[in-house]
Amino acid sequence: MSYSSPICTDPAELYDLLSTMAGGLLDGETDSVSATANLSALIYDLLPDLNWAGFYRVKDDVLVLGPFQGKPACNRIAKGKGVCGIAWQTDRAQVVPDVHQFPGHIACDGASNSELVIPIHDPSGKFCALLDLDSPKIGRFTEAELQGLLPLINRLEDWMVQGNIYSL
Ligand code: SME
Repeated sequence: MSYSSPICTDPAELYDLLSTMAGGLLDGETDSVSATANLSALIYDLLPDLNWAGFYRVKDDVLVLGPFQGKPACNRIAKGKGVCGIAWQTDRAQVVPDVHQFPGHIACDGASNSELVIPIHDPSGKFCALLDLDSPKIGRFTEAELQGLLPLINRLEDWMVQGNIYSL
């Protein structure tokens, strides 16, 4: 996969940069909307070939749309529905090379062809939110990209632990 970020051409450097910059954006912040809004903007700005990047949070037993970059998306997703709902139900990241092959995929933007969803856990280890990335490119996301993004997710989870934050 080629990376066209104006800052980095090496994926490992790009993931390091993302995680470091995420740490900087989270440092000193206590508000979860402010924090996740900036993280969605950072990811959308730095990762190439995305058409959507944002968060869904568990609220009253449904996933509710959180801060994001991209076109308007569905407000609420039930457990087990779509890629996001399956990530919640299974508490497992979903790497979807072709969303059209994923039964029940929810199409928010017709341009999306691949998707990556990563669970986020509260300080007690409970699934509380997820990061969702969409791309117009088939096969855009890989297991390597998931591994590359986990340090950023870990930073967010550490920030929640430090701030005693249980929901985003
Ligand atoms: N495609 C997702 C829905 C959310 S949008 O991609 C922003 C899904 O199938 O759960």
